[in-house]
Amino acid sequence: MSERQQRTRFEIIRQRPGSAATTTVVEREGDEQVLTPWPDTPLADGERVRVRISVDHGAGWGPWSDPGTAEAGLIAPESWSAAFISSPGADPITREDPQGRTMRQPPRFARTFTLAGTVASARLYITAQGVVQAEVNGHRVGEEELTPGWTSYRHRLRYATFDITDQLQPGENSLGLLVGDGWWRGHLGFGGGTMDVYGSELAAAAQLEIFYQDGTAQRIKTDDQWRSDYGAIMSSGLYDGEHFDARLDTFDWARLTTRTGTPVRTQPLDATLLTSPTGPPVTTTDELTAVQIEDRGDGRWIVDFGQNHSGRIRLHTLGQRNATITLRHAEVLENDELAVAPLRDAAATDVLITGDEPLQWEPRFTIHGYRFVEVSGWTGTLTDQHIHSAVMHSDLERRGWFECSNPLVNRLHENIVWSTRSNFVDIPTDCPQRDERLGWTGDLQVFAPTASFLFDTTGFLQSWFTDLAAEQAELQWMPPWVPYFPLEPFASLPRDPSAVWGDVAALTPAVVHARTGDLDFLRRQYESATQWIRHVERAAGPDRICRRSEQLGDWLDPAADPENPFVATTDKYLVATAYFAHTAHVLAETASALGLPEDEATWSTLAAEVRDAYAREYVGADGRMRDDTQTAYALTTVFDLWPDQETRAAGAERLADLVRASNGRIATGFAGTPLVSDALTSTGHVDEAYQLLEATECPSWLYTVLAGGTTTWERWDSLRPDGSLNAASMTSFNHYAFGAVGDWLHRTVAGIAPAAPGYRSIRFAPRPGGSITSASATHHTPYGPAHISWVNVDGTLQVDIAVPSGAEGIVDLPGTDPQPIGPGAHHFAQPLLQEA
Ligand code: BGC
Repeated sequence: MSERQQRTRFEIIRQRPGSAATTTVVEREGDEQVLTPWPDTPLADGERVRVRISVDHGAGWGPWSDPGTAEAGLIAPESWSAAFISSPGADPITREDPQGRTMRQPPRFARTFTLAGTVASARLYITAQGVVQAEVNGHRVGEEELTPGWTSYRHRLRYATFDITDQLQPGENSLGLLVGDGWWRGHLGFGGGTMDVYGSELAAAAQLEIFYQDGTAQRIKTDDQWRSDYGAIMSSGLYDGEHFDARLDTFDWARLTTRTGTPVRTQPLDATLLTSPTGPPVTTTDELTAVQIEDRGDGRWIVDFGQNHSGRIRLHTLGQRNATITLRHAEVLENDELAVAPLRDAAATDVLITGDEPLQWEPRFTIHGYRFVEVSGWTGTLTDQHIHSAVMHSDLERRGWFECSNPLVNRLHENIVWSTRSNFVDIPTDCPQRDERLGWTGDLQVFAPTASFLFDTTGFLQSWFTDLAAEQAELQWMPPWVPYFPLEPFASLPRDPSAVWGDVAALTPAVVHARTGDLDFLRRQYESATQWIRHVERAAGPDRICRRSEQLGDWLDPAADPENPFVATTDKYLVATAYFAHTAHVLAETASALGLPEDEATWSTLAAEVRDAYAREYVGADGRMRDDTQTAYALTTVFDLWPDQETRAAGAERLADLVRASNGRIATGFAGTPLVSDALTSTGHVDEAYQLLEATECPSWLYTVLAGGTTTWERWDSLRPDGSLNAASMTSFNHYAFGAVGDWLHRTVAGIAPAAPGYRSIRFAPRPGGSITSASATHHTPYGPAHISWVNVDGTLQVDIAVPSGAEGIVDLPGTDPQPIGPGAHHFAQPLLQEA
């Protein structure tokens, strides 16, 4: 039997709650092993399934695999009968934030119920207008944070599912819901921001489905039988922090339902908006111990966790009776004090008032971006037994690793990983610390290739892209951040198609497809991608040059005025037109992958027209760009916009000259930085690419490492060489965009890249250079782990490669022709010649 005649057998054990299990075996022909269609009828709501597979390669059936399990959510709107419940009146104003915004106390809701028998299984489904945590019999349900996350609430609202079978007890049980402002009504956005973006009232909905061993079922849902009151959370904002008065924490849900509570108000829940999560929830993924705790002698302690990250503090308040403990957060110190200017209007301050009892405390509904915390109001000595930091972000599965012989480059890579973790917080954000934390499209667009090597981002991105398409369709233009909400005085700005940012609609789904083989992702986003390019096309006009729309351009070019980061040395219209040509080309490839030949022809023609217009407008006959900048050469090279080989070679030479002349210091912003290393290595200028990578003077990647960065910075000089902070109003120490070089580290320094969608074919093409004498990378592809490690032993490159089964490899070592390899382990030895 040939490979094509491979067969797969699926053993499917299905069980509807309350019914007996059924087993079926289904057989399928074919050798597809990734993202194959579900081989049986769709699951019913709440149905559980256990699947094992066995494969016949031609020599009979192999052994059964370990089983995989899944459970369907409450997919059909008819499966929902819960209502939204909220407090009967306006929530009390408990304080003002430093900008005079009033903060309201979030309500809590509860009810009790009695079990009618022995429970076989119980599932709790919850959602909120706000953020919600559930408690059963006083114990927290699950480990998810900031549930249900941030979606474009007008279009989609997620719900979370919990198995609470083991949390129920015979007889009476209580179910409590705590809510917080979250994105629904909290302070959102920069420039003063805005409150109550989605509404002024918090609400929660829950549905508990209990199945008894005797086959009967019971449903408890949010309705008018619930009661509400206010607890110990005095206020809670994502940016501003949480205030908690433990003296009010008389958390007795049963008492709330019978005595202290007031009846709730109900409103209908539009179940057609409900959607189950496609990605992992935000959770605590690590707990950091302080590396230094310094007593400032004036009642303040400065705690250093040694790592910038997103999360929040956990306190163990032994001995702190009737104390008011204040926690202020910051990413860096300036003049030995917390540098809070980069937080802008985010107060990032938590306050805990303790009672008589020692407490393990952590805020519930806020999150901060920080490395340092100032603790005041603590009596006695604060030690690392009292304070920890919970690292919090979307719990994405790690998929990729990189290492090389240069420890500074390793730290840069580590910083890239930490900035990914800190900013993949339910949505892909720009930064975790200041009054922003928005899903800026351009940041993700440039960083998605790196992120998708490091982590499994597919389900996470699927949710965000669904929102992007929904917002775009509603607005009829591409929002610059998703979920979008208008933010005065910027509300009218973003309607122009801004390149690099809006291009996320077409370019990033293609990245996801390349990295995962997920054609459905590409198909779902295709309409949005075509709407985007049509918008760009209309705005450009017949000459195909994008000079009529507002552009963010090569944002944060290090030579730009710090307060005007879009006034870059490279013409923003050049950047936009290069992107226009490239995106049209990628869309032609997308149409081809989707089997749409007419569309493919349309986008190819458009790409060719824009390419010609671009060359006429910006490229000189001698290969000199009209803007003689690294970004201009990088865009033209990587997007393949040179009119011919001669100009390409001359342009590449010029780019290498510019890099040498700047001594490897960075001269690119958001548009050029992700491309410049590839532009150099793809044209044979490996030395200059490594000169850029290994430069240590400001601005450079390794400058940020040597300056003590533990995450990647927004600005090349967020911290200046003289130790002062960049005073511009936009200075974060945790932005991932300039970490886009990670993708080049993986593909070119170590040498692993997909050569066919989903890494079904893998290119191993290391290009050693600079001071680096060894490197390695591992990526868990959809087919299994792929690995490369190489070491330069006295001028001979010793390479070890592992190709997962079901995939194939192409080995492309410097100075030899590429050659195909099959699954398994391979070793190569290749003399390393100095490239001319
Ligand atoms: C964000 C960026 C974003 C930019 C665009 C900034 O405030 O932090 O990363 O892409 O604005 O204007």
